[in-house]
Amino acid sequence: MDVYEAVTSRRAVRGFTDRQVPRETLERVLSAAAWSPSGSNIQPWRAYVVTGGPLAEIKKRAGERLAAGDPWDEPEYEQYPPTLKAPYCERRSAFGAQRYGALGIAREDLEARQRAASANWDCFGAPAALFCYIDRGMGAPQWADVGMYLQTVMLLLRAEGLHSCPQMAWAKFHTSVAEVLSPPSELMLFCGMSIGFEDVAADHARTGRAPLDETLMFVDGS
Ligand SMILES: Cc1cc2nc3c(=O)[nH]c(=O)nc-3n(C[C@H](O)[C@H](O)[C@H](O)COP(=O)(O)O)c2cc1C
Repeated sequence: MDVYEAVTSRRAVRGFTDRQVPRETLERVLSAAAWSPSGSNIQPWRAYVVTGGPLAEIKKRAGERLAAGDPWDEPEYEQYPPTLKAPYCERRSAFGAQRYGALGIAREDLEARQRAASANWDCFGAPAALFCYIDRGMGAPQWADVGMYLQTVMLLLRAEGLHSCPQMAWAKFHTSVAEVLSPPSELMLFCGMSIGFEDVAADHARTGRAPLDETLMFVDGS
């Protein structure tokens, strides 16, 4: 698979089969992803790749909290600016309408949306997950480094025939994740990532992108 195909075939997959992902494949992907760039090569990501019993335990703990109606954890970072201005706000609404519309869920049906969103904490059925932490002391450039690392992981997963879904949703259950992974206290959970083989029977809509002239400018003097 060439890089263009990896980029364009990667999408947030929200339905996986229970086919296990071989440990050697995960090791190959994560070893290659370690070559991701970072400012001054400080490599600020800290990733935990979790499968089997420990992942089942994380899903179980999150599921029990959902079933009990426990409040979410406050994420340890602001996931979006408190007032999301145009055009970002409109793009976010369009995404929500598309995602839940594809599932036949009406905009005002908050309960059904919540139910669909709760699949996040089962990793959409995926048998593997990556939990990505960052040191609390890091600033915006290092968060960007972590983003590059995660995209590198996702592209390499495509090269292995695997799919993924990055999930900030896991930051809302960071204490449950920490109970199982016991990360050092200086780390905060940025996101999880479901990893596995796509369930091709699961419905999905391909999320679009803004017209290029909204996000890109060529400046060549002509
Ligand atoms: C950092 C990050 C966090 C995300 N968190 C979630 C999440 O919690 N749940 C989810 O279903 N999708 C999540 N997504 C997936 C985005 O919704 C998705 O990437 C976006 O809508 C574009 O769609 P595409 O990736 O399928 O092209 C996240 C993506 C990123 C990059």
